[in-house]
Amino acid sequence: MNPVLCVDGTALTIRPIEITDVDRLARMARRLSPASVYFRFFAPIRRLQWSTLLRLADVDHWRRDALVALDGDEIVAVARYDRLADAARPEARDAEMAITVEDAWQHRGLGRQLARRLGALARERGCDALRVTILPENRAALGLMRALVPDASVRFRDGTYEARLELPPPSQCANPSSVGSPRSSLTCSPALTRGDAPAAGAKGAAKPWCPSVSSR
Ligand SMILES: CC(C)(COP(=O)(O)OP(=O)(O)OC[C@H]1O[C@@H](n2cnc3c(N)ncnc32)[C@H](O)[C@@H]1OP(=O)(O)O)[C@@H](O)C(=O)NCCC(=O)NCCS
Repeated sequence: MNPVLCVDGTALTIRPIEITDVDRLARMARRLSPASVYFRFFAPIRRLQWSTLLRLADVDHWRRDALVALDGDEIVAVARYDRLADAARPEARDAEMAITVEDAWQHRGLGRQLARRLGALARERGCDALRVTILPENRAALGLMRALVPDASVRFRDGTYEARLELPPPSQCANPSSVGSPRSSLTCSPALTRGDAPAAGAKGAAKPWCPSVSSR
């Protein structure tokens, strides 16, 4: 997986989260607008508790994992998955996804690219789909899900939207012939530059290759 992402000419480092990132997460959380905090945590939290930050940084890189994007030494975006246990469907292999892009970095393609990379990671680890719970007023998150997987199933339940983004089989991801498949657009990510937007008329089209997670 390419460890560098270029957004508007700025090179960001992408890597898995580490337990030592707690301070960086805390600083990022303090820079988030109240709206972003509310959309991410579904509550008007003034200051995230240390225990919450610790839990967010403490992943096993299998059941739970997160990718962070760093500008220099500061985390500016986080994308995470957390495998779901479904007692009714023990065979289900879905994971919950959450993405947070710092306000100053929003609308620059970072959320889309991090989601693709996280999708590749989850797929490589045997997940079938990523589910995202979204508040109805969160137009950005709803738009992002639609941009990633135009035919994703989205249902309204208990006051929130739940999107389920199916992950394509790894073979599809590695196959350039998957270009054009809306599904593969989630996991097939090119080098991460703002300039790699789909060609005109192909908004949301798949990328020709998928990052190799094994090479991370
Ligand atoms: C939702 C969020 C992750 C999007 O990240 P982002 O980096 O700004 O998104 P991108 O720039 O990659 O946008 C990708 C696509 O999403 C859609 N999108 C992004 N912002 C949007 C907005 N404000 N309104 C409508 N669609 C939007 C667009 O389709 C966009 O594609 P385009 O730029 O080609 O039009 C970011 O706004 C965020 O972190 N919000 C606060 C936390 C949150 O809501 N998390 C989601 C719930 S877990």
